[in-house]
Amino acid sequence: MSKQASTQTRFELNESDLPKFWYNINADSPVPPAPVLNPQTKQPVTPDFLSVLFPMPLIMQEISTERYIEIPEEVRELYKLYRPTPLIRAHRLEKALGTPAHIYYKYEGVSPTGSHKPNTAIPQAFYNKISGTKALTTETGAGQWGCALAFACSQFDMTLEVYMVRVSYNSKPYRRLMMETYGAQVFASPSDRTDFGASVLAQFPDSPGSLGIAISEAVEVAATSGGAKKYSLGSVLNHVLMHQTVIGEEALKQMDLAGEYPDVVMGCVGGGSNFAGIAYPFLRENLRDGHRTRLVAVEPTATPSLTKGVYTFDYGDSAQMAPIVKMHTLGHSFVPPPIHAGGLRYHGMAPSLSALCDAGYIEAKAVPQLATFEAAVQFANTEGLIPAPESAHAIRAAIDEALDAKQKGEKRVILFNLSGHGNFDLTAYQDYKAGKLQDYEYPEEAVHAAMESLPQVVLQ
Ligand SMILES: Cc1ncc(COP(=O)(O)O)c(C=O)c1O
Repeated sequence: MSKQASTQTRFELNESDLPKFWYNINADSPVPPAPVLNPQTKQPVTPDFLSVLFPMPLIMQEISTERYIEIPEEVRELYKLYRPTPLIRAHRLEKALGTPAHIYYKYEGVSPTGSHKPNTAIPQAFYNKISGTKALTTETGAGQWGCALAFACSQFDMTLEVYMVRVSYNSKPYRRLMMETYGAQVFASPSDRTDFGASVLAQFPDSPGSLGIAISEAVEVAATSGGAKKYSLGSVLNHVLMHQTVIGEEALKQMDLAGEYPDVVMGCVGGGSNFAGIAYPFLRENLRDGHRTRLVAVEPTATPSLTKGVYTFDYGDSAQMAPIVKMHTLGHSFVPPPIHAGGLRYHGMAPSLSALCDAGYIEAKAVPQLATFEAAVQFANTEGLIPAPESAHAIRAAIDEALDAKQKGEKRVILFNLSGHGNFDLTAYQDYKAGKLQDYEYPEEAVHAAMESLPQVVLQ
């Protein structure tokens, strides 16, 4: 599918090329996601229910079916600190692999906090600010999301409480310090600050925590604050995925500068936001202009919600307080094995992505931990950047794709999202080098057992 391919390495856009609109997949999706349900009534939520947690502009975005939503000027001004982000041709990696494939990556690690997460943290903080919110709560796994929201809150003069999964709180002190530098308060989850956290600790004093538990704590604090605090989520929800589409909109223009069009677009998936951010604008082109770009979501074999999880209604959190959504899930009681890609440990997946994957518009692939680190180290030694362990899953899949093209003697254009750098994740690299990491396949039986505690949903 190549025109006259450029031999350049970096493809940069000007500030004036910064997208003016986010793209909403719900306008075009052939398989609209099922309604979001109230966890008590198990019937579709009303804006009133959601308004306890979220400000009205974000609720309206969540349910919108408008194709394009204008990015406010205040948000674009902050995006300009790091956007448009570069698109880079991985010439050195291609050479090392001896592949005829062309490999491009969109690099989101240039943001102030080192990942794609500020793309949604900034607008979420902005819409809360203009709605009168003074304080936010959130959870974080590896700390990337917490850092992004802490940065955004500092820009809009709001306070932030972060519930950080305990295993990451202990292993990633620098991310905690970064959040604190931006003025956030950070607590290891489970904590004794919430009823739910205290109940988990009473049962499992050594609990390593999970995203499901940390979400419950952050939601509880907001829901019981009498309106003083709102809650913010870094992935999964429609409005979050939509904010990330600036990645794909820029990449479309940059691929044009490169004189190529991708045959395959890849990204790692935790809750689905960076993958959707790069893939949904290309999906629009598939649906509208007849392109046949393959869109591949890559997850760890240790948390295989798309490849082994069941597509069904489940709670978004462990305490069953967050809304119920239809998604690929490993069960809300999931406490993951402590793999290093902390940001990929959520039990569920974004509803829009789950629906598209279930209907075959998006492919899913699971990769094991050791091969993922092997790819990360190869990438560091060819392209120079040390990737976040989460992003390394996309690199593994992109390398496999390039090797497959080599074996078949095919020219293939591969684009992946490098969602963040790994400069604060070096203990994971140390453990890999010391031979302390292992592969782990999440067992089918555990998925089946977890399905017994799914909510019983009968839609009226
Ligand atoms: C660098 C990085 N990439 C990817 C993810 C996964 O999240 P999502 O699937 O929402 O992009 C995370 C989550 O924390 C992350 O920190």
